[in-house]
Amino acid sequence: MYSPTLFQDQIALVTGGRSGIGYGIARRLLELGAKVIICSRKAEPLAEAAAQLSQYGTCVQRPCDIRNTEEVEALADQIEREFGRLDLLVNNAGGQFPSLARYISDNGWKAVMNTNVNGTFFVSRIMANRFFIPQRSGNVVNIIVNHLRGFPGMAHTGAARAAVENLTKSLAQEWATYHIRLNCVAPGTIISSGLDTYAEPVKALLDQMEQENLMKRHGTIDDVANAVLFLASPLSAYTSGTTLYVDGMDHLHGNRMRMVDMFR
Ligand code: ADE
Repeated sequence: MYSPTLFQDQIALVTGGRSGIGYGIARRLLELGAKVIICSRKAEPLAEAAAQLSQYGTCVQRPCDIRNTEEVEALADQIEREFGRLDLLVNNAGGQFPSLARYISDNGWKAVMNTNVNGTFFVSRIMANRFFIPQRSGNVVNIIVNHLRGFPGMAHTGAARAAVENLTKSLAQEWATYHIRLNCVAPGTIISSGLDTYAEPVKALLDQMEQENLMKRHGTIDDVANAVLFLASPLSAYTSGTTLYVDGMDHLHGNRMRMVDMFR
């Protein structure tokens, strides 16, 4: 439905592009003409993903822990060497695990905050200073979650993604003068490789939530990727600092306590 040249010769960085939603976003960008850099922490699966994605266009990779600013600077060095510019940053890397809040450890809490909040800020600041601000152009799409009515059962990620959403609003205003737009995509429950890591009771819960969704389905990776494409493209030129929910209305409707009920 989008023009196959929508992102022709644009340079895009997708963090966490090795698997799941990030991989799907990278694939769709490549199909529409972008040159894509993917990063994630683990070198070997990242190289495999980049090799697979190369069937759709120019895809390069670099292992990078987004919590480490030296590694993010090195990633920017590589982008500068190989492409000389950056047009789009998709902050997709993140992580969480289901747990009642009272059992989240110091380290578990800090890990989720560090990756989602610090990592997203570090990559955004470094790529903006290196590319977007000097270029006087840029686009950032932050992948968060549906946290509108809180996220009982994953309180750490609700707090972290709310922080990223607020950061998006601040940066969108500060950086508008440089023609940089920033927006969030908030997926609901999406069928992706990430769901395989959940235990059986969580999978049963997901089946129940699918029945309760007003559209009677979970989202697909392409549902999310297509929303990212819209916000990354000039089709959304007058939209910045906002959040697009891709969740079949779960942010409006439904029982947010299902996961907590399952744990109790
Ligand atoms: N994906 C999940 N956590 C990450 C991190 N710290 N750096 C890069 N990609 C990630």
